[in-house]
Amino acid sequence: MPWELVVWLLSVALCLALIFQPHWQTRLDAVPWRWYLIGYPITAIRMTLTWRRLCQNTELAVSRRPNHVLLGGDLLVKGSALRPVAPKLGPIRPTRTGLTASIRLHPGQTPLHMLAAAEAFTHAWRVHSVRVTSPVRGRVLVIATARDPLGKPLGGTPAHRPRLLTALVGRTGDGADWVINFRRVPHWLVVGATRSGKSNWLATLVRELSPQHVALVGIDCKGGLELSLFGKRLSALATNRSDAARLLSALLHEAAERMRQCRADGARSIWDLDDAARPVPIVVLVDEVAELYLIDGTRNAKQEAAECSAALLRLGQLGAALGIHLVISAQRFGSELGSGATALRAQLGGRICHCVHDKTSAEMALGDLSPDAVAAAQMITESERGVAVTAVGGRWVRARSVITTPREARECAREHAHRTPPLPLMGPSLTNGGAG
Ligand SMILES: Nc1ncnc2c1ncn2[C@@H]1O[C@H](COP(=O)(O)OP(=O)(O)O)[C@@H](O)[C@H]1O
Ligand SMILES: [Mg+2]
Repeated sequence: MPWELVVWLLSVALCLALIFQPHWQTRLDAVPWRWYLIGYPITAIRMTLTWRRLCQNTELAVSRRPNHVLLGGDLLVKGSALRPVAPKLGPIRPTRTGLTASIRLHPGQTPLHMLAAAEAFTHAWRVHSVRVTSPVRGRVLVIATARDPLGKPLGGTPAHRPRLLTALVGRTGDGADWVINFRRVPHWLVVGATRSGKSNWLATLVRELSPQHVALVGIDCKGGLELSLFGKRLSALATNRSDAARLLSALLHEAAERMRQCRADGARSIWDLDDAARPVPIVVLVDEVAELYLIDGTRNAKQEAAECSAALLRLGQLGAALGIHLVISAQRFGSELGSGATALRAQLGGRICHCVHDKTSAEMALGDLSPDAVAAAQMITESERGVAVTAVGGRWVRARSVITTPREARECAREHAHRTPPLPLMGPSLTNGGAG
């Protein structure tokens, strides 16, 4: 077949694909061409040219010759051998957000040696960050991110079809989706100073959960300003402490009922029940939890605070198996709120720490799970609203939430109001977003 015909056929195929697949255009637009065509080649050349000197300066280059020689038969001279050899730099491959390179370690070196030099790599290569992993023994993979992917605010509704009890709330520092999965991590603590992005994070979470078959229950004792935006999509909303105490006690009853049902059916959790018999999962959102714990000295307040604290702790202990999940937001969450708060924190396996003004707040949020994450959280500046360090187990990552505006919240509540499952255990004044 002549070449002209092949080229022509390919062009026609491409045109037809572009005409009948409008998504192709969007996909082409989404490719970071500037990085692939200009940024990547420049950085790769810079890496290759600076590699030897960089390794010498960071003591990654070692000499294969001995560090001592015998002179004249009886004189031993010791010192640093000349001509150190840098570890072998493998092919440098581009990714959408930066590049990766595989490096072969010298005998005696560990990935920790590379990790110690990671900061020097970022400056020498002029990239935003460098991570070091070791997927294969004897080699490390250096992953460089060109620009801070969290530098710009993220807006818009994420386009994906969520699985039950998972929510795409933003993007992580290495460009991946920031997904909250309640089936994997049942309870979450969100910490941050005022105006750091806690309520926005909750709103984004609610917006993502709204289309799902999930009951959403709110406790917002700062007048309900934040969560009432989701009005009719909430199965109940408490805006003061006495309502919150009643709501939490109703949830404890619901938990007891679910436990009875599981026992009767010989199930360990609601997920072992038949689909038809399974009660709807409940996500309990508490904005500014300190309002529940802090007391003004009156006897009533003291008792309500104790009730709320005990109920939250009990729900934290039992909830995972019964499909009752807690999401608690606070400016600080430690022993100053009472021993109940410390015990509850131990139940909240997922942690998110926005900008905080002191080390103790970051330690309260992340210290017990991942000490390294504390330092990373302290680096978040006040202007980086919605940026957080999130830790699950010992792993942590920097991430930024998607913005959910009050208008988007109201529209979401209106659109999904019909999905609000009624929770019969709750009193009439608490149902339907407190609207009666
Ligand atoms: N992910 C984000 N990206 C950009 N701006 C954000 C983000 N999250 C919050 N903000 C901005 O920060 C301000 C304070 O956020 P908010 O969630 O009310 O903080 P908090 O509840 O911690 O006091 C909001 O007005 C919002 O515009
Ligand atoms: Mg708030």
